[in-house]
Parts: sequence; C-alpha cells; structure tokens
Amino acid sequence: MQTNSYLDYKEIIADTVGKVLAETGLEKQAIYALLEYPPDEKLGDLALPCFQLSKILKKAPNLIAQELEAKIDPAPYFEAVKATGPYLNFFVAPVTLAGEVLGKIMTCGSNYGAHAIGGGQNIVIDFSAPNIAKPFHVGHLSSTVIGNALYKIFEFLGYNCVGINHLGDWGTQFGKLITAYKKWGSAEAVEKGLIKELQRLYVKFHSEAEQDPSLEDEAREWFRKIENGDEEALSLWRWFKDISLEEFQRVYDLLEISFDSMAGESFYNDKIDAVLDELKEKQLLVESDGAAIVNLEDYGMPPCLILKKDGSTLYATRDIAAALYRKKTYQFVKALYVTGAAQSLHFKQWFKVVELMGYDWAKDLVHIPFGLVSLEGEKLSTRKGRVVLLEDLLRTAIEKTLAIINEKNPGLARKEEVAQMVGVGAVVFGALSVNRIKDVTFSWEEALSFEGETGPYLQYTHARACSILRKAGFSPEVDTFAPEKLNDPAALRVVKTLYLFPEKVLSAANEYEPSIISRYLIDLAHAFNGFYHECQVLVDDPDLQRARLVLVWAVKTVLATGLGLLGIKAPEQM
Ligand code: ARG
Repeated sequence: MQTNSYLDYKEIIADTVGKVLAETGLEKQAIYALLEYPPDEKLGDLALPCFQLSKILKKAPNLIAQELEAKIDPAPYFEAVKATGPYLNFFVAPVTLAGEVLGKIMTCGSNYGAHAIGGGQNIVIDFSAPNIAKPFHVGHLSSTVIGNALYKIFEFLGYNCVGINHLGDWGTQFGKLITAYKKWGSAEAVEKGLIKELQRLYVKFHSEAEQDPSLEDEAREWFRKIENGDEEALSLWRWFKDISLEEFQRVYDLLEISFDSMAGESFYNDKIDAVLDELKEKQLLVESDGAAIVNLEDYGMPPCLILKKDGSTLYATRDIAAALYRKKTYQFVKALYVTGAAQSLHFKQWFKVVELMGYDWAKDLVHIPFGLVSLEGEKLSTRKGRVVLLEDLLRTAIEKTLAIINEKNPGLARKEEVAQMVGVGAVVFGALSVNRIKDVTFSWEEALSFEGETGPYLQYTHARACSILRKAGFSPEVDTFAPEKLNDPAALRVVKTLYLFPEKVLSAANEYEPSIISRYLIDLAHAFNGFYHECQVLVDDPDLQRARLVLVWAVKTVLATGLGLLGIKAPEQM
C-alpha cells in the first residue's frame, strides 16, 4: 500500500481491521484492496465485503462481519460500524471528516491531492505528434490534450515527465508533396497559402495519382532523395517543415501546451543503421519479397515491416529507434504513446520487436489509445480535404465566448484574456470529458456549447466561489474554523466529494484516464451548487459563516487544481 500523503479512510479501516485480525497474518494491503464504496449511501460510506475473508478464516462471511462489528471501536473517524449480511459497513463521522478534509486542504492548498509516489522517476509521454505539411485538425486534439493532462497528472504525483512531440516529419508523403509542388505549385503560392496551400497540393497529388499512377513512382523517388541527403529535396523538406511548425506553434500557444522535446521522426535517421545491425545480429531480421521484416507469426500478428523494397525506412522502424534512444537518454520507468486506437496493432507489433530484442523494459512501453473522431458521421480525411482545423475551432470558441461576455458582463476586466481561457477551456474539456476510448463525432454545436456539464460550467462555478470569498473578504490564513457547523446534508455532500479528490487523481493516473478527473469535477460542481442553493453563506453567526467560507474556499481550490491537471485555466471572474 502507498503511504498516502493525504487523508485515507481506507487506510484507517485497513489498520483497524488488520489489528483485530492480527493473528491470521492477513496483510493490511489485502484488507485495503477489499474495501468498496457502497452503491447506496444508506449502507454506509465504505464497506468491507467479507467473502474473501471467509476463505481464510473458514467462517461464514455474515459471522465474520458480526464479529468484526463487535470488536471495532468506531470513534473518532466513524459514527457507526454495522454488519449487514456479509458486509461490514462504515459510517463516517461527519464532523471529524469535515475537520480533517478541510484542514488538509487548508494546509496543502493547491497541493491537496499531490503525491510523492513518483519519487522523481522519469515518464516519457509521446503526444500530439501532428504530421508536417498536413493540417493540425481536430483529430489531433485528443492526443494533444490527453497527453498534456497525463503529463500534469503524473507530475502532480511526483514523477518527472518528459513530453515529446514525435512530429510526423519523415516518410513518403514528403515525396508526394515535392512532386506536387514541382508540378502544380510555386514559391509565391506556398508563401501566401502556407499549410492550406501544402494541403491543396497534397490533395491534388492524390486525385491526379488516381489517373496517373506513375506519379507515385516519382514521389517515391523524391523521398529516396530526401533520405539520401539530396540538397534540393532536403531544402524543400525543411521549408515545408518550418511552415508547418510555425502554424502548429500558434495552436500550442492558444492551448498553452509545450514540449520538452520536438524530436520528430527525422531525428532518428542517423540512429536507424545501428538498429538494423542489432536486429540482424539478434537474427530477427528476415527478407521477404525484397523487404526486411520481423516475423511475428508466433504471436498472432502480421510481420513488422522494417525496410521497404527500395530500402526506405518505415514508421515502425523509426519508432523502434526512438524507443532505444529514449531509454538510453531518459532511463524512463514508463513510456506512454498517446495515439488513436487505429494504431493499436502498430504499437503491439513494435513493442513485441523490442521485447524480442531482449529488452525487459519493453513491458514499460504503453500505448494509450483513444477513439475515432469523425465529422458528420464520416472519417476525417486530409486527402479529401475534409477536416476541421484546430486553430479555427479554438478561435471560433474564443470569439463566441467574447460575444457572450459582451452581452452578459460587458464591464468585466481583461475580457480578451478571460474569453481565451473559457473558449479554449470549453474545447479542451469537451475532448477530456468522455472515456478516451469512446468514438466521438465532432459537432461544432457541441464543441461550442457552454450549457450543461462543460468546461465553462466548471469555470463559472469556480468564479462564483471566488466572488463569494471576495465579498466576504475571506482569508485562508486564519486556519481555525468550527467543523461542527457544517452539519447540513448539502455541506456534507461537498465535504465527502472533496475527500475523494486525491483518490480520483490516482485512478486517473493508474488508468491513464483524465476523464476520471473531468467527471469528478462535474460532481464537485454539482455538490457545490446544491450547497449554495440550500445554504446561505453570508450569515449573522460568525462561526457558521467562517465554516461555510472555508468550504467555499476548499471547493474553489480543488476546482482550480483539477482544471489545472486537465490543462484548463480557472479565471477568478467571468
Ligand atoms: N504522427 C503520428 C500520427 O499523426 C503520431 C505519432 C505518434 N507517436 C509515435 N511515436 N508513433 O498519427
């Protein structure tokens, strides 16, 4: 079990039950792992199912629950411990809980929920990775925001994250682009149209190649030239890359996302030969129809293609070289790859190759897939020019937010800044609010909706809490308050939700699932708005007011922390 730096009622129970069952030799961890949140609150706040214990103690589970009930003293953390059938149910003592949770949040502030389990070890996170000369479209949104959220979550848990943007800056598509540029493009048009012009050329290449397949040969020839260091080919490639990077940077600036390394696929060119030698030496490389492959038949997978017939490298070749390089450079304990689920086989294949090369750290390579983003029911397609540009989406969201502010709160200070935080927040939260593996259909309407369970709803709840605190002139520095004043059910609901935050952060990390935090924040905001509706905060009784203000402050703090972990800003006014 981790020794948590935060309040952990499961640990308290595991301790207590562990002591009672000491002579059975049952480990505390084992008890900890059994604890559940009952589906119905009437059954208590935490439950110990006794089925497994029954096997060890050779007694009926109901009997075990009854015996434990008799032996356990609930105070001070619980107001009651009751056996119900095969379960031992724990009812939290609300005042103790309020005092403990709020006290913890007041001492930890924005670090509430943080953890030291990472111990400064490195985690490499490969995310975003758009392709050069192709538009940065909504299909890349998921990788970008999931990767960024995981980065922040793991840092919060004490890891040192290395964010790598594995840019798609190598491959036959550059041969196609050069071919198209030579035939139908011009320097002026590219300077003027930038990526849009590159995209036009790319789309044109594909429609023309349908009529004239020889264009494909020409494209292959150009790519070969790039790989062989031909000056003309390389300088065109560099030019296209610079244009793309400038455009990508505008999107990253809007999202306020940065990377520790921008080493794209091309970075590994000079590291390929060593990989090929190693594969040969380990007798993994096999010739097949002139190409070089690693046979994966024994593992129920198609072969991993390493070199094409013409000797050019592939996506997987570069991924293997990159993994070896990253292990050597960063000594990672985990390397995460955030891409669409469509690439699952690709990752399975080359992870296997790394394993076959004899590297036990192959088990630390993790593919983090997400569902398909489609547009009006159809796949996004750069080739067909059917995409929604991320920059357009973000800018439209910001404009829409500004229009709403101008209508509802025209006197707001720093309107543009707030509009950016909220517009971008809406888009980011939209992409992080559902289980990542779910397919999503992009709709402008939904992406720009501020109603219901959205990012702006959370931001608004945060701003509302800030405004209450401002009005009351609240200062968290004076840390005394009377937790017994928080005895309304609505206030208690908020306290219990606040308690859960650290555990949710851990689950989000363990499952690589930022949406666990998104859903949690929605629950917290609902609980808080319910409390605000039921209980007046600014009241005559100074102790009651102080206690309620502490609760408001705690909610504000946790909302801001949680949004921050998702890569979303929390403005104090909106
Ligand atoms: N550029 C790729 C794409 O757009 C994603 C790269 C992911 N990272 C990796 N190491 N393969 O699909």
